[in-house]
Amino acid sequence: MSILITNIKQLVQVHTHNKTIRKGSDMNKLPVLENAYLYIIDDTIIEYGIMEDCEGIHAETIIDATGRIVLPSWCDSHTHIVYAGDRTSEFVDRINGLSYADISKKGGGILNSAKTLQETSEEDLFKQSLKRLNELIAMGTGAVEIKTGYGLTVEAELKMLKVIKRLKQESLATIIPTLLAAHAIPEDYKSKKQDYIKLIIEELIPKAAALNITHFVDVFCEDGYFDIKDTEAILEAGKKYNLQPKIHVNQFNILGGIELGVKHNALSVDHLEEINDKDIEALKDSNTMPVALPGCSYFISIPYTQARKIIDAGLPLAIASDYNPGTAPSGNMNFIVSAACVKLKMTPEEAINAATINGAYAMGISSMYGSITRGKKANIIITKPMDHYSEIPYAFAHNPIEQVIINGQLLK
Ligand code: NIG
Ligand code: FE
Repeated sequence: MSILITNIKQLVQVHTHNKTIRKGSDMNKLPVLENAYLYIIDDTIIEYGIMEDCEGIHAETIIDATGRIVLPSWCDSHTHIVYAGDRTSEFVDRINGLSYADISKKGGGILNSAKTLQETSEEDLFKQSLKRLNELIAMGTGAVEIKTGYGLTVEAELKMLKVIKRLKQESLATIIPTLLAAHAIPEDYKSKKQDYIKLIIEELIPKAAALNITHFVDVFCEDGYFDIKDTEAILEAGKKYNLQPKIHVNQFNILGGIELGVKHNALSVDHLEEINDKDIEALKDSNTMPVALPGCSYFISIPYTQARKIIDAGLPLAIASDYNPGTAPSGNMNFIVSAACVKLKMTPEEAINAATINGAYAMGISSMYGSITRGKKANIIITKPMDHYSEIPYAFAHNPIEQVIINGQLLK
């Protein structure tokens, strides 16, 4: 199967030499080829260049992209799309004045979703999740991380992992699963948190590792959830099974989770709505990607991550949707790119780098995804007619996407 895309107005994020991360002032660089072509065979980018050099290339499918932008698909490195039901009533509670913490205290929040998921069959959970995944693909996401964390029992967490495995098998999207058993203290363990941590360490992690689905472990390191000591114990246990940390930190409070993540070679530290100079220092000279989740800030009205502080310190930054039923019930990465520009004061170039190459890095797949480079996987967005890639974030809440190619397959 071969595809040739011709007359591309702007071919965005083109790198002759494979890039795997963009940091600091380099985040403002977004290489573009005008009046270009892109040639794909099977699931791989074979060649690209300017239209004058396109002669003689034959393909089974030819797409005329006149007046359109072509760019690598979004790499959404932080989602919780496997969940059951929704939490619309909590949304209304928040409008009426309750905070996220108030709702959690009265048994809502993550525990609410866990109860619903435990009562939902694996088949039903799969169907609900697949629908969400297909919607994400249509909105330009080609690679997506999916967390567990709404099971909170051994059985339900493994059910979530099996659903993620099936999504991986049955969807064209690239899926990176993460074990987030330490997402909240289950109702039954309310006054015995250490017993739940013991269950995670002694039973859940070994059983999850035996399924051989995930290579990552996550913890919600936050007041009222898991403190630094708890988080460290879980990360240590994960390490024994080669699970690398990707952790929720600094959403509401600064507990030292960033330093801890760096110490344990976390691939990413995510949220960072709160961040201080010590956190920034900890991230310098590390291999850990900071990840901002502007959809969460928007939806539950908490501060936006200070992207300028992070990028201007020379650090990389990724952006992701955090798609989940409680704090971000949308996985539209076009909106996330726009919110990064409007609310995080990132340039369109920085935001697109954050949602492609750096998002891929935060999933450990940036050698194969996140840029237009020969040999990389063909996860491609073709936009509707527009003059410049900046129109993607500019026209917020519009759908800029006309077609997507996902691992070499054209979807209309
Ligand atoms: O990333 N903060 C922790 N986890 C999710 C929210 C989970 C929920 O409210 O259901 C997040 O925001
Ligand atoms: Fe999250």
